Amino acid sequence: MATHKTWGMKTLAVDIGGSGVKALVLDEAGEPQTNRSRVDTPQPATPEKIVGAIAQLASDQTFDRVSVGFPGVVRQGIIGTAVNLDASWIGFDLGITLTEKLGKPVRVANDADIQGLGAISGQGIELVVTLGTGFGSALFVDGRLVPNLEMGHHPFRKDETYEQQLGRAALESIGKKRWNRRLEKAIATLEHLFNYNRLYIGGGEAKQVTLGLPANVTLVGNIMGLLGGIALWRD
Ligand code: BGC
Repeated sequence: MATHKTWGMKTLAVDIGGSGVKALVLDEAGEPQTNRSRVDTPQPATPEKIVGAIAQLASDQTFDRVSVGFPGVVRQGIIGTAVNLDASWIGFDLGITLTEKLGKPVRVANDADIQGLGAISGQGIELVVTLGTGFGSALFVDGRLVPNLEMGHHPFRKDETYEQQLGRAALESIGKKRWNRRLEKAIATLEHLFNYNRLYIGGGEAKQVTLGLPANVTLVGNIMGLLGGIALWRD
């Protein structure tokens, strides 16, 4: 029988994306307690403006701690890359800045890593890719994360990276049909490279996937980018 705690910590889960910043509150079991709220990603997408957007989303919520998914490399709350936001993010301590701003403990991780934490079964080799403004990737071995896998910026085909071929800009310029054909090729390449037990495809544009997927490939909703945030607080 499931034991649900009626007390306990509330987590504000935040997902910073290239087009929107999203948030909702999770209970201790990781169940959503609020609807998802969203603001457009401010432009230029500087640390100051995005921290402001998060503070705005947080202002009418009650929570005890915060999980943040960031679209780039993150180590101990410090940003390593931010290709689709602004160069001023490099070296920025998002963890400390938000802890001070919101007055609550904050944990930050790569957005695809968080999406994966929400989606995986915890068994075998599980690869996650996210299709949105950028191309995110995350790798898990029996539930253990290999953090900050940055496959999106690696060569895929025709002298272009996965992100150049399959990011939102490519989808908009070549259309859904050709984009799906590219995705089919990417899946075949990734299967040979990783020999995964399961591949999960998430992100805001996963809803544009129309190709017939192999049996070991699963589509996951973009909401996982928020729901996975609870995993940052599991010890
Ligand atoms: C970034 C990744 C991120 C992905 C999806 C890429 O451009 O380099 O870190 O996970 O976009 O947001």
